[in-house]
Amino acid sequence: MSETQTITAAASGTVTLGGDLTVNRLGYGAMRVTGPGIWGPPPNKAASLATLRRAIELDVNLIDTADSYGPAVSEELIAEALYPYPAGLVIATKGGWERPGPNQWTHNASPKHLAQALEGSLKRLRLDRIDIYQLHAPDNAVSFEASVEALATLREQGKIRHVALSNVTREHVERARRIVPIVSVQNRYSFADRESDFIVDYCAENSIAFMPWAPLGQGRKADVAIEKVASEFKATPLQVALAWLLKRAKVILPIPGTSSVAHLEENVAAAGLELPQAAYDELSAVSHPPASLRG
Ligand SMILES: NC(=O)c1ccc[n+]([C@@H]2O[C@H](COP(=O)([O-])OP(=O)(O)OC[C@H]3O[C@@H](n4cnc5c(N)ncnc54)[C@H](OP(=O)(O)O)[C@@H]3O)[C@@H](O)[C@H]2O)c1
Repeated sequence: MSETQTITAAASGTVTLGGDLTVNRLGYGAMRVTGPGIWGPPPNKAASLATLRRAIELDVNLIDTADSYGPAVSEELIAEALYPYPAGLVIATKGGWERPGPNQWTHNASPKHLAQALEGSLKRLRLDRIDIYQLHAPDNAVSFEASVEALATLREQGKIRHVALSNVTREHVERARRIVPIVSVQNRYSFADRESDFIVDYCAENSIAFMPWAPLGQGRKADVAIEKVASEFKATPLQVALAWLLKRAKVILPIPGTSSVAHLEENVAAAGLELPQAAYDELSAVSHPPASLRG
């Protein structure tokens, strides 16, 4: 399993977003194609471009990005590597959370800023309409309804096909859905990081896709349970973590991120790893303190 195989993202099955965008359930997160700290150009641009192109060869047809990755760098590299885009490729970008410096984030989800951010993404991605535009995170200094209403207006103007949310609570999703249909939610979530469990259930009940970020608990050391399952199936811990997510709910669409072709191939190969129920249950029973309470 850990060796490179020609298993493609198609082995993960499909999920349909917003009733009209059907994609393979294993996607790709393009945050890591930038420089260190998600800042500036990548140290090896050729490797970043090759990773994006290899993702398409491996049947990945959902790429996640954001205006703030770089900033601008991730979206520009996606266009440079892949434009004109292959039929069926869905690019999900985001706005409302800015990157003022390496490893720094600033909220800015005012209606005015979101409209400007969207224009920038359209230009960099060379698109007339963004298939999935995600509010990157609610902004405490701005009414959440005002941010979502701004995205609903941009959708009415034809610049956004579907509106989505990231880093939200279930209450946010419910409030947003009173304004505009929400097609996906992107929160940190993994077998070891289950704070969004009930949002996953809510998404499954309401046919909303759920894109977990940091599928291995954001680089925290893989624990004994996952090491054990990985060695049993001759897979890597990350492959097992991805397979757990794919089994957790049919609406889950993992977006593992990497800037390396070899890592991408390894991650996509997880699409072919069907975890038996006993192994899935063993990992589901792992109980970690909520990530927000960890040191
Ligand atoms: N909505 C949000 O707020 C939010 C926040 C964070 C991320 N995201 C999205 O979610 C995606 C995934 O999150 P993430 O990139 O933080 O976390 P991740 O996918 O869990 O991990 C990425 C890290 O793991 C390494 N890695 C990936 N595959 C590997 C492999 N097979 N073997 C060894 N190391 C591997 C990468 O390094 P290499 O580059 O060396 O492979 C990178 O350092 C991002 O790309 C982004 O699109 C969204």
